[in-house]
Amino acid sequence: MDTPRTGPIDNVTAYSMPPSTYNAALTEVGRGTPGGEFLRRYWHPIAISTDVTDTPQNVRILGEDLIMFRDKTGRPGLVYPRCAHRGTTLFYGKVEERGIRCCYHGWLFDVEGHCLEQPCEPEMGKHRDRVRQPWYPVADHYGLLFAFLGPAEKKPLLPRFAQFENLGPNEVIAAEDSGLGTGGNGPHFIAPCNWLQHWENVMDPYHVAILHSAFSGTQFVPEMAILPTGDWEYVERGVRFTGLRKLPDGRSIRRVTEVMLPTLRVVPDVHLKAGDIDHIGFTVPVDDTHYRLFNLQRTYPGDNRPRGSTYNGKRWSELTDAEHQLMPGDYEAQTGQGPITFHSEEHLTSTDKGVGMCRRLIAQQIKVVQDGGDPIGVCFDPAEQIVSLEAGNYYE
Ligand code: FES
Ligand SMILES: [Fe+2]
Repeated sequence: MDTPRTGPIDNVTAYSMPPSTYNAALTEVGRGTPGGEFLRRYWHPIAISTDVTDTPQNVRILGEDLIMFRDKTGRPGLVYPRCAHRGTTLFYGKVEERGIRCCYHGWLFDVEGHCLEQPCEPEMGKHRDRVRQPWYPVADHYGLLFAFLGPAEKKPLLPRFAQFENLGPNEVIAAEDSGLGTGGNGPHFIAPCNWLQHWENVMDPYHVAILHSAFSGTQFVPEMAILPTGDWEYVERGVRFTGLRKLPDGRSIRRVTEVMLPTLRVVPDVHLKAGDIDHIGFTVPVDDTHYRLFNLQRTYPGDNRPRGSTYNGKRWSELTDAEHQLMPGDYEAQTGQGPITFHSEEHLTSTDKGVGMCRRLIAQQIKVVQDGGDPIGVCFDPAEQIVSLEAGNYYE
């Protein structure tokens, strides 16, 4: 019989645990917080473009509650909800040709918050140009509505990716927000945990062999059960993992996965389709304890490749507790860490190197912003706007 090892953890029970804490700088997303100011230097998707209509909608992004709409000429707008007059919400406003009209006294604001009319005042409000409804810049791009919530003078160019430029004659970009890649629970899916828990997971390739294979059964394809050899590296805009798996048929597959600042996840086809990446996801923080995944897929009419995972033919939302216990996936593992995981209780090991690298990169870039600089990945020069993605499945 082995002699029990003795050491500093002997006779320790949960009673002697120190208070649980999380790293606030990495996880908090509000205006004025270190992480929130870092995130506010980038454009973020906030909706599928076609979902933004002439009916005002509430939207929560980076901890801010805002109203989005599209005026009757097609221009999108994103404004602070409380009307600049006496504060009722513009959610009850009516959208017109030139903007959104408040329900209470009819002030009309355009998509940039300019007050165009104050109908109860003489001459429609002689001083209306002294009022501006707080607003944020937005732009339709790749089928998503992007918003910039940072300082106006720091607004960069929109992100562009080589893989989503120059589409073939039959190709289109499909945008979706059903939570594909994190539970797949249906349109406008919001996951109830901090965004970083999902984003850093992309640099945790070892969970694939356990969670998605050995523990829960084959959630993608059997080859994913093979533990990869490989390493992580810092690249221009983020972290990359290159993993090699030797397949039973003698071939090898090199699988390259990336994350890019601020929230991009670039995960090759989990059914191991060969070739370059043709889809990406943005892990957008809704607030400190929720995120949304906006996915873009380069596709074509008749494309019926399998996407995401269903279990026993059911969608994730239809599973019973017993089924969740039997075959947990990313959703269970990541929300199972709690609304914001307690970093104080972790024990990171060699295979968590990628997670550590993600966190260090964010911490460094927060410091860059605090010191007055521009974080990596923001671009002000159209000549450098297009980013090429290296991720993919490559058979050798
Ligand atoms: S509160 Fe909006 S117009 Fe008066
Ligand atoms: Fe996963």
